[in-house]
Amino acid sequence: MRIGVDYYPEQWDENMWESDADRMKEIGVNIVRLAEFAWSKLEPVEGNYDFAWLDRAIQLFADRGIEVILGTPTCTPPQWMLHNYPEIIQVDQHGNRVATGIRGHRCMNSPMFREFCRRIITKMVSRYRDWDSVIGYQIDNELEANQCRCSVCQERFRSWVKRKYGTIEEVNQAYGNIVWSGEFSDFDEIMPPMGEHLLWMNPSLHLDYQCYASDSTVGYARYQAELIRKLDSDAKITTNTWLCEHMPDFYDLFSNMDFVSYDNYPTAELPQNPRELYSHAFHLDLMRGIQGKPYWIMEQLSGIVGSWAPMGRTPKPGMLKGYALQAYAHGADAVLHFRWRTAKAGAEMYWHGILDPSNVPGRRYQEFRDLCQIVGTLPEMEGAMPVNKVAVLYSSLQEYAFKLQHQAEGMYYLEYLKSWHDAFTCLGIGVDIIAWDAPLKQYDIVVAPNLLINDDRVVRHLYDFTERGGTLLLTNRCGVKDENNQCMTEAIPSVYRDLTGITVREYDPLGMVIRKLDIQNDAWADNLGKWSKRVAADQEYSKVSCTRWCDLLEIHMGSVEVLASYGEEFYQGTPAVSRNPYGKGWCYYIGTGLHREAYIALAETILQERKMSYYADLPIGVELTERTKGENTWQFLFNNTEQRQVVSLEEEILLEPFEMRVIPS
Ligand code: GLA
Repeated sequence: MRIGVDYYPEQWDENMWESDADRMKEIGVNIVRLAEFAWSKLEPVEGNYDFAWLDRAIQLFADRGIEVILGTPTCTPPQWMLHNYPEIIQVDQHGNRVATGIRGHRCMNSPMFREFCRRIITKMVSRYRDWDSVIGYQIDNELEANQCRCSVCQERFRSWVKRKYGTIEEVNQAYGNIVWSGEFSDFDEIMPPMGEHLLWMNPSLHLDYQCYASDSTVGYARYQAELIRKLDSDAKITTNTWLCEHMPDFYDLFSNMDFVSYDNYPTAELPQNPRELYSHAFHLDLMRGIQGKPYWIMEQLSGIVGSWAPMGRTPKPGMLKGYALQAYAHGADAVLHFRWRTAKAGAEMYWHGILDPSNVPGRRYQEFRDLCQIVGTLPEMEGAMPVNKVAVLYSSLQEYAFKLQHQAEGMYYLEYLKSWHDAFTCLGIGVDIIAWDAPLKQYDIVVAPNLLINDDRVVRHLYDFTERGGTLLLTNRCGVKDENNQCMTEAIPSVYRDLTGITVREYDPLGMVIRKLDIQNDAWADNLGKWSKRVAADQEYSKVSCTRWCDLLEIHMGSVEVLASYGEEFYQGTPAVSRNPYGKGWCYYIGTGLHREAYIALAETILQERKMSYYADLPIGVELTERTKGENTWQFLFNNTEQRQVVSLEEEILLEPFEMRVIPS
């Protein structure tokens, strides 16, 4: 398995490089990432390239058997370029060129910028394609969905809209432009959302803009990937992604890359909110699901984080090692730590690496050294994947739509996905997080939260899945809008009416308010009693809470069973949670946000009904995952708590805080 660091030779005196490489070799580092911000040193003057220093750095690693992944340095164009070619600088939502001097401010669509990219990437790849130790390329750095509003990007957006709709009449129809006299008479009138009040813009246009912005970034990444591939067909290509305000669609972004990589910075303080305990696990599972393959961690937490924000707590003993091992347990084939040594200059001098600028090995270094040693003893499980029976569906489109129109205070798209992931994780069940339109054949249980916007193909998949015998979980805010982000004229959940047997008569966006819920299903109530005692010692479990949103359900079919109703408000007694048999399967409708124990208890009830085995006594905070390759399956236990935990599997296993244990089976 690969273990490594992100290393910035250009930021340090060359006489340190050799001892750095020696040290890495000695502790077991086998891969480094280089050069993703080094454009000004590689092309100090337009057209004058200097790769000699990078040759020397790579050679030092090659001599020690350490592989290299190179970043295309396009996230940080040099100052001469920004100065001489201002048209390559992004324009913000107010129409102003953004301030330079930081990074990521290039316009991905600027023809001039693309040409500079072509030149530097061609130089880089042609130079290193015959170097065995250079195994591949990371494209740019943490690509966001393109938010540039320069004239080139405006025109691109117009062309995107034209390609999608063909005629301006279709656009007007799709956007409902009759409202507020928004009708266009010509494509030239179409503008990206701009100005102060973005959330007042037409939501249909705005959603299209987010999709265009994603496509735009995907196009830029593809431009680089195709260029690299043409020059070196063996090179492995990736880009390092993360979760940010404007995320490109992950599935599109990686559609023509060799593997997914992710920048993983778990918080050094265990979350106050217990629901967030498995948040890192959620992100890792999301990454694995993008290609349905093992992923890489391209940047991993190495110490205190901070710089533009106050510094956070220092990671506790065991955390650095534990969180890296957790990533392997969830499907990583490589983990690279950001960064080998904390920067002594620049904006990120407080984002700590493995070593301090003093270069004196400290606690973090010792822990990293231990980690490298442990990784050296991990089984050869490259390519191994879990075989999970539970999937949660993720959709960028839904996430964009939820961000554009906040549904209720405190209600976030990912929160619902995480709640279900948390519930099954507490029961020792591995969860795949997959694209909402992915095939569902391998799964027994599929959770499809908040499918606000309908898509015919997905709807068909979900009906088929349930009909064949699957258990489907739909939630509030499913079936609300058509594909243009306009409200459906059928009662919610519109297209899911036959599947659920209910309609939503009315709804109440509770926001942060908490209301009582009466559970009417015995098995769920029993399980809830158990979990209430275990997780929240004194909960009164026959009355449990709901929050964020209340769908008031109207039952249409005799086959529907009401599992819970509201216990307060003018709608006391109205059904809130239901299930309906459909074909050989079941469709649950959860019309409200539950409290944590209620989710876990409902997940347990569903597992019991399906006669699926699970771990009822797994300590909270301990993750149980699996990876399988051929005949071999490995189980992993990771203790994400500050206490020792005893896990009873076939034997009792004692886990230290943040310890990860591999159990071959
Ligand atoms: C991101 C970037 C890195 C660095 C780290 C720490 O993950 O890719 O270059 O900025 O954050 O802030």
